[in-house]
Amino acid sequence: MITLKAPAKINLYLEVLNKRADGYHNLCSLFQMLGFYDNLSMREASEELHLTIEGMPEGTSLSADSSNLVLRAATLLREEMQMRGLPLRGAHIHLIKKIPIAAGMGGGSSDAAATLIGLNRLWSLDWPREKLAELGCRIGSDLPFFFYGPTAWVSGRGEIVETTPSIIEGVVLLVHPNFAVSTEEVFGAYAKVHERKVKNRKIELTREPPPLNIHPDIKRRPEINEILLHPRNDLEKVTLDAHPELEALKDLLKSLEGESVLMSGSGPTIFSFFKDPQAANAAAEHIKKEGYHVTVASILRQSPFEEFL
Ligand code: C5P
Repeated sequence: MITLKAPAKINLYLEVLNKRADGYHNLCSLFQMLGFYDNLSMREASEELHLTIEGMPEGTSLSADSSNLVLRAATLLREEMQMRGLPLRGAHIHLIKKIPIAAGMGGGSSDAAATLIGLNRLWSLDWPREKLAELGCRIGSDLPFFFYGPTAWVSGRGEIVETTPSIIEGVVLLVHPNFAVSTEEVFGAYAKVHERKVKNRKIELTREPPPLNIHPDIKRRPEINEILLHPRNDLEKVTLDAHPELEALKDLLKSLEGESVLMSGSGPTIFSFFKDPQAANAAAEHIKKEGYHVTVASILRQSPFEEFL
């Protein structure tokens, strides 16, 4: 039996660089793992894959069928084993869900990464993290980060990961309004607005497709002070326009001593930093009364996956 903690992430900075020929966007983003976890346990089974799920956050549902990222990851690993002529193995996987779904915290991606890492160990494959990260990227753009963490600059569509020391101290207050957001729809809306802007400026669009996997100029990366003083997430406006109540939530957080109030990923989770955990807990109590789902999480200095890689 193998048990793994799958951590949530937030994006401390997220700049959308351009749309790629393959429909994805090139990003420049700073990812940070948090001490807020789903839990996965896995044990060997004969030839089949089974998934059970427990602890779904209130009002949400997640099916344990082939659309589930955990089963997609396990199936992909088995397909890869088959291609290499390795015998098929099975597993029972039990997922305890704590991280809200479609919230911008990478919970599904982290669960899928945990599955690849756990089964790699359970089935004694001993494949290197680079190989697992490459497989992970076929499932979702946020996955590669989870094989490296706990803090990293992420670029390309998510496949280029460069670890860096953590830039924040204290704890993170996570506020999750009780609705889900589709990453695909947020990027779609961002692309529409962006295309319109380009047309209005009468900029001639090049017919050349943008190069794949361009590595953003490192000079583009903002200074740490900039990240904290002027929090930036290019997807935030799209999600806030669609859900104006998030603006009020941001204002509420700004009034509560937290620093750098920002939406994570494609949202709708909003976070802020507190140097003093007690102040974070007091703010959490206040926000809970407004009916939001609130978590105070630590900033991870080490990835919980490290001991399995
Ligand atoms: O990779 P993932 O399945 O998480 O992405 C969901 C959707 O978000 C993609 O289909 C794409 O529309 C959009 N996306 C994007 N650029 C990225 C990541 C995601 O356009 N870097």
